Amino acid sequence: MNIGTALTPHATRALLLGSGELGKELTIALQRYGVEVIAADRYANAPAQQVAHRSHVIDMTDAKEVKRLIALENPQFIIPEIEAIATAALAEIEADGLCTVVPNARAIQLTMNREGIRTLAAQELGIPTSAYAFAESFEQLQAAVEGGIGYPCFIKPTMSSSGKGQSMVKSAEQLQQAWDTAKASGRVDTGKVIVEANIDFDFEITLLTVRALNTQGEVDTHFCAPIGHRQEHGDYRESWQPQAMTAAALANAQAVAFKICTALGGLGLFGVELFVKGDDVWFSEVSPRPHDTGMVTMVTQRQTEFDLHARAILGLPVNTALQTIGASAVILGGVDAEGVLYGGLANALAVPDSDIRLFGKPVAYTHRRMGVALATADNVGEARNKAVQAAQLIVIKTV
Ligand SMILES: Nc1ncnc2c1ncn2[C@@H]1O[C@H](COP(=O)(O)OP(=O)(O)O)[C@@H](O)[C@H]1O
Ligand SMILES: [Mg+2]
Repeated sequence: MNIGTALTPHATRALLLGSGELGKELTIALQRYGVEVIAADRYANAPAQQVAHRSHVIDMTDAKEVKRLIALENPQFIIPEIEAIATAALAEIEADGLCTVVPNARAIQLTMNREGIRTLAAQELGIPTSAYAFAESFEQLQAAVEGGIGYPCFIKPTMSSSGKGQSMVKSAEQLQQAWDTAKASGRVDTGKVIVEANIDFDFEITLLTVRALNTQGEVDTHFCAPIGHRQEHGDYRESWQPQAMTAAALANAQAVAFKICTALGGLGLFGVELFVKGDDVWFSEVSPRPHDTGMVTMVTQRQTEFDLHARAILGLPVNTALQTIGASAVILGGVDAEGVLYGGLANALAVPDSDIRLFGKPVAYTHRRMGVALATADNVGEARNKAVQAAQLIVIKTV
């Protein structure tokens, strides 16, 4: 394809729906190829809006507002960065054939709801997952748990991310609380929760998987080296690459990722979340876009997950090779405050082979991700230590 000149009538325009830290890096990656990037979010001065050519503040769950913005900006590419989007509007826009929804509207619709993606993976594709059930009332939930899912189990709103509304339940007494939490904190109350049996995994990974065109114009599937990660309260705290695993487990992981990404279709990068025990692999969920745990690729790969997504979307060749062992550690807000100050940057950057990204979010919350520390080393243990150390040296203060 040809790339037009940004900010002229023939520009190649990409509209980001969602402008967080992943969108910020994607914006920069697209701009490096000359793309004009417009960043939308529900609040002003979101990370990607601080670097995009233009920005808009809209309610992305409102189909009318989404369609109005698309008509106004007339982008060639619409790139959803979050899950809370009026996806029916995207399906309509895609059907008009005037622009590409990345990777496609159906994939966005299926992955925004745990029911859609779980049913596709487990029932249509026969991919191994935890035992699960959907419940629309407390009684249904109780029946599902007692009828076979058992304890411990996970209760999650069908529409939620970053661990929101999610609980691990160890015994019958905790079930009501988990139901109430899931009902109260789901992003959109679909009236449904998913309950999943606990998978007693050795470790969990994100397998970044890229669907990109080859020189013959056919779609090839590429895999990055597996990324290991540690989660707390359903949210990621540390990630590292590569995660050591058996050759059989890696082959199983790639086979699962290939199946699910092929079924979703389109061009772009996907973050496939998998649980691993020995040689066995269970599918957990997938993001049809860069993944938070994949921020580690900013130091480990020549082409970061953002470069890979940008290239794949634009129909350009990709290379997923790992260059260096590395790790990332999240920097949390630690306070609820606006316009915080970041101290300790010099100390953090004095940690050998480290780097820091501050996202510039206008408001900090105690558990909000405000930045990430990155580090490389000769082995994963050392890389993790350096990244965690650098992250801990950042001090977030109120003004
Ligand atoms: N069925 C399960 N068995 C074991 N651990 C789980 C299970 N479901 C979730 N978890 C843990 O919780 C984390 C977050 O769950 P996930 O379904 O990925 O939610 P989110 O969409 O909020 O990221 C997982 O990365 C994993 O550590
Ligand atoms: Mg997840």
